[in-house]
Amino acid sequence: MRSKIKIVLLSLTLIFMFSVSASAQDPKDPQTPKAVLKAAAAAKAYVAKQPKPREPRDRAKVADKSDYCIDCHREKTPGIFEEWVLSEHASLGIGCNDCHGAYQSEKDSFLHAGRFYIRTVVSPARCGRCHKQTIRGFANTAHARALTNLEEMKADDPRYPLIEPYKESGFAECRACHGTRIAVSKDHRPTAQTWPNHGAGRINPDGSPGNCAMCHGRHRFSVASARQPEACIGCHDGRMYPEGEIYARSLHGLAYRDEESRRNLKRPYFYCDSTENTAPTCALCHLNGAGQGLITRHDPAWRLSHNLTHPEALIREVKGEPQTRMRAVCEQCHAASVVERFLTAADSELQRYQDEVVKPKLAQFEKLLKKKKGKKRKAILVDYADFLAQSKAYRLNLYMGHPGRTER
Ligand code: HEC
Ligand code: HEC
Ligand code: HEC
Ligand code: HEC
Ligand code: HEC
Ligand code: HEC
Ligand code: HEC
Ligand code: HEC
Repeated sequence: MRSKIKIVLLSLTLIFMFSVSASAQDPKDPQTPKAVLKAAAAAKAYVAKQPKPREPRDRAKVADKSDYCIDCHREKTPGIFEEWVLSEHASLGIGCNDCHGAYQSEKDSFLHAGRFYIRTVVSPARCGRCHKQTIRGFANTAHARALTNLEEMKADDPRYPLIEPYKESGFAECRACHGTRIAVSKDHRPTAQTWPNHGAGRINPDGSPGNCAMCHGRHRFSVASARQPEACIGCHDGRMYPEGEIYARSLHGLAYRDEESRRNLKRPYFYCDSTENTAPTCALCHLNGAGQGLITRHDPAWRLSHNLTHPEALIREVKGEPQTRMRAVCEQCHAASVVERFLTAADSELQRYQDEVVKPKLAQFEKLLKKKKGKKRKAILVDYADFLAQSKAYRLNLYMGHPGRTER
């Protein structure tokens, strides 16, 4: 405790000294040492305020009926059984029935093996019975809202022309990543049209949105598998969604492949150190409890200050200081002043790019799209999608790839 007070006093003195010595500079210029030091101090202070990483132990109820399931399923579906045996759940006595068990009255429950009422689809609400911390706020994350965001998009949104052609089919072409509304047929089982589905924002039979298995897999439900970039690039990759490629080509992606032989994603807290995990992954920057007091977040927006995927690159209106949170991640591995310089450059190039390139183009397309109908409109939409994809990639490259790179 006493040493903490000493550190606080010392840093206050330092901040005071620097602010006196640097006060001659223009405080509005984000490149001044003063601004850099101030931001670095804010990030340090933010980290210092964070609670110590909590032990991720929620309550568990031990299995009852699951013994019967296991006896039969170890023969009928050995693959599922083996995956489950390897899980933390199995070692804690959490069995099949804890997740699949259902009441007869529920609309997706059916009689199984002659005596058990079960359901096939296990919703986040079910996981949330035990994982109370994780489920809090989960329904409002971009992932859980991935389908409803499309359904509710307003006609004046610059992204609307992209989704318009798919509205009528209920976004059938988008279901793989954005999700389906899972329907239940007369036999109380999910319909073939709507499940199996792995989409981020699928609506489950109980009405709850989202899908925990999309990152954790099943039935191992491991933390390590969700920490790999591979857990994300199933969706975050492709022409319209360039994050995977951008990461793979970045120095971070290179470092990730380089560290293969010493990587350890199984550690209770996946923070970086000089012996094992020296490369950041998607999850480390966006979701992880990243050491230094940063705790696990299942909301990928928690550390985001912009909406870079939106053509207008809107500033996010969120509580707190998302960029300070992100910087706290970077500062595990980089000098604070370097990170600050990098992000400051990104912020100012973003503004220039939006003003000089994106805004005029958006206005141009808006005019064109207003006039044209039918085939001509379709042709313009192809160009429009191209432009949106390219400009998104440019913005993302500024923050997590090669700044200044255009994807072609
Ligand atoms: C006597 C053997 C037996 C027992 C006991 C048993 N199962 Fe099954 N289960 C099967 C077989 C066989 C299938 C595959 C059925 C099929 O393909 O029609 C299956 C399928 C399933 C499915 C997929 C159903 C679907 O149609 O979507 C789930 C989920 C499941 N079992 C869970 C459980 C749970 C949970 C228990 C324990 C409460 C359990 N099983 C007990 C044999 C059994
Ligand atoms: C921690 C929760 C959990 C536990 C424990 C669990 N499951 Fe599952 N199970 C799931 C989830 C999630 C799915 C994927 C369904 C979905 O899309 O929601 C699933 C899917 C299934 C399916 C259908 C998918 C397929 O590939 O056939 C079967 C069968 C099944 N589980 C059987 C079992 C059996 C048998 C056990 C026990 C050995 C078990 N489950 C334990 C959560 C669980
Ligand atoms: C009956 C209670 C219960 C249910 C239902 C349940 N879990 Fe768990 N789960 C636990 C407990 C207890 C632990 C161990 C403590 C911890 O890590 O939180 C755990 C651990 C985990 C872990 C960490 C494993 C690791 O490698 O450290 C993941 C991921 C997870 N559960 C995901 C899920 C998902 C996804 C579902 C729903 C499909 C689910 N759980 C359903 C109780 C449950
Ligand atoms: C390969 C997986 C995948 C498919 C298929 C897919 N999307 Fe996406 N979509 C994503 C990902 C990942 C994001 C978020 C990252 C990004 O925008 O770069 C996203 C974001 C979006 C957004 C921005 C959402 C917002 O509110 O910020 C729109 C609009 C969108 N998708 C429309 C569609 C439409 C329409 C389809 C079907 C024609 C579709 N997507 C198919 C993965 C996919
Ligand atoms: C099953 C597909 C899928 C997987 C797997 C997936 N995502 Fe996403 N992600 C999406 C979609 C779709 C969106 C856009 C949702 C929207 O804005 O409507 C999205 C949005 C995001 C966003 C923007 C958040 C926001 O609030 O706008 C981030 C950051 C993100 N994902 C990170 C990740 C990371 C990190 C992983 C892996 C650990 C991951 N995603 C795995 C589909 C996926
Ligand atoms: C976008 C991908 C993604 C989705 C979706 C996701 N998780 Fe996770 N989850 C992760 C990652 C990555 C970690 C490891 C975080 C870390 O290392 O700090 C994790 C860690 C966990 C842990 C252990 C750490 C903790 O917070 O206690 C549990 C339990 C867990 N997830 C449960 C769930 C449940 C339940 C759901 C659905 C409501 C879910 N996850 C959905 C990516 C995801
Ligand atoms: C070194 C840390 C780092 C890594 C690794 C990383 N990102 Fe990012 N990501 C960022 C930063 C910083 C931003 C921009 C944050 C801001 O200004 O809002 C960003 C932005 C995004 C966005 C746009 C969100 C929005 O709407 O603004 C998505 C989607 C995304 N990342 C997904 C991913 C995926 C998927 C991976 C892995 C393939 C990944 N990221 C790897 C740091 C990282
Ligand atoms: C887990 C450690 C780790 C984290 C966290 C991390 N990086 Fe890195 N970063 C590296 C490694 C390793 C390299 C490869 C080059 C090197 O060895 O410095 C690198 C390279 C870079 C480079 C290229 C440097 C150059 O001279 O061209 C930049 C810029 C960068 N990172 C910015 C960031 C930003 C911004 C964040 C946070 C959003 C971040 N990094 C988070 C480990 C990390």
